[in-house]
Amino acid sequence: MTSAEPAEKLLSPVLSASWDDDRPWTLATYRRHGGYEGLQRALAMPPDDLIALVKDSGLRGRGGAGFPTGMKWQFIPQNDGKPHYLVVNADESEPGTCKDIPLLFANPHSLIEGMVIASYAIRCDHAFIYLRGEVVPVLRRLHAAVAEAYEAGYLGKNILGSGIDLDITVHAGAGAYICGEETALLDSLEGRRGQPRLRPPFPAIAGLYACPTVVNNVESIASVPPILARGKDWFKAMGTEKSAGFTLYSLSGHVTNPGQYEAPLGVTLRQLLDISGGIRAGHRLKFWTPGGSSTPMFTDEHLDVPLDYEGVGAAGSMLGTKALQVFDETTCVVRAVTRWTEFYAHESCGKCTPCREGTYWLVQLLKRIEAGQGAAGDLEKLLDIADNINGKSFCALGDGAASPIVSSLQHFREEYEQHITERRCPFDPAASTVWAGRGHVHESATEREVHA
Ligand SMILES: Cc1cc2nc3c(=O)[nH]c(=O)nc-3n(C[C@H](O)[C@H](O)[C@H](O)COP(=O)(O)O)c2cc1C
Ligand code: SF4
Repeated sequence: MTSAEPAEKLLSPVLSASWDDDRPWTLATYRRHGGYEGLQRALAMPPDDLIALVKDSGLRGRGGAGFPTGMKWQFIPQNDGKPHYLVVNADESEPGTCKDIPLLFANPHSLIEGMVIASYAIRCDHAFIYLRGEVVPVLRRLHAAVAEAYEAGYLGKNILGSGIDLDITVHAGAGAYICGEETALLDSLEGRRGQPRLRPPFPAIAGLYACPTVVNNVESIASVPPILARGKDWFKAMGTEKSAGFTLYSLSGHVTNPGQYEAPLGVTLRQLLDISGGIRAGHRLKFWTPGGSSTPMFTDEHLDVPLDYEGVGAAGSMLGTKALQVFDETTCVVRAVTRWTEFYAHESCGKCTPCREGTYWLVQLLKRIEAGQGAAGDLEKLLDIADNINGKSFCALGDGAASPIVSSLQHFREEYEQHITERRCPFDPAASTVWAGRGHVHESATEREVHA
């Protein structure tokens, strides 16, 4: 692909193909687009062959880590006499990440069909959707779609005469980012406070109610029916060798036309900007995230990085959730990182010390730097705290919190220094009064004291 290619050649709408139809969320529309044909094929295959097919397709998890989906299903022990569970992670709370919610809103049956196929493969007769609770319209739509699927015989007893049973429970979470971490999600689903579990044992061995459990992202599961319907070779023909297929890229921020762009893995931000109207008029790109706020930020030097797992990794970041948050030259990087860090401090579940204490202290330091009250040595302190969080926390939320600190200092250290030496925010001089009025942070980062 070249950036000069027209949108219709660059994009590969599959999950989003029906979004512009009238009432795309209904079963009738879904069927008109070939919906539930993949399920018919799947039910005609032995479950192990189905797992092998998904494995061979090269589908990798779309929830952030890119773990091969078929391999995850294969880890479920067979003939162990225990119930098996499928849990779909629809918590979607990372700043910038906004693909699963629109997908569920526009096309809920793609998830339901994928869940029936996945449940058949892993021998599960009760599956769950853990949805972020704030999105009530999506919750209603999901409930309606599940009811439609029961009515049509795609759920319940003896699905399509196959002898297979499946019930789906839709669960609304209470809106905590940590409940997207798969083991915290399982605790929350079981009715406990959502905090990550120690691993091993992994969910495939002891997950929901201590039974073998597959936890997959919405988009991962929704990508399975088209693979069944059109074949693994069709899927592998898109994307790159190790990152096969199509995916949803969520373009947001200072762009002319933000939105969901479904394209083969390996497309570049330059190409996506070319077909989406570019950076907003009169401005230029300053920095961006390839996969949400937890992924190290990129700059305009990275416009041609292939947005697949390997390409983004080789360039020093992570593909994550493919949430492309774009910031132009009017954005203060210190302010943006401060806002993200406030989010991580708020969402830290408190289970482990490096993240609970570290995110708190990062916010204190960042706020005073942003307000022009920073001191010499603050940048080293920021890096030191980030280093004490990264890789030393109990779960990946901590690593995610450290990531914008480290990458923004790598690319924009001078801008941080400017805040300290000029004693003001160069983007918003008025901001310097905000923090001054509240006092200053005690120099020792071991005491939680803010002196007025
Ligand atoms: C703090 C945190 C939040 C997460 N939030 C989500 C989420 O909202 N949705 C999601 O699918 N995965 C999320 N993940 C990743 C999950 O733990 C898990 O890897 C994913 O659901 C696996 O699905 P996949 O293999 O289909 O990608 C989160 C991880 C962490 C550490
Ligand atoms: S890293 Fe943060 S969110 Fe994860 S367990 Fe520790 S305190 Fe909780």
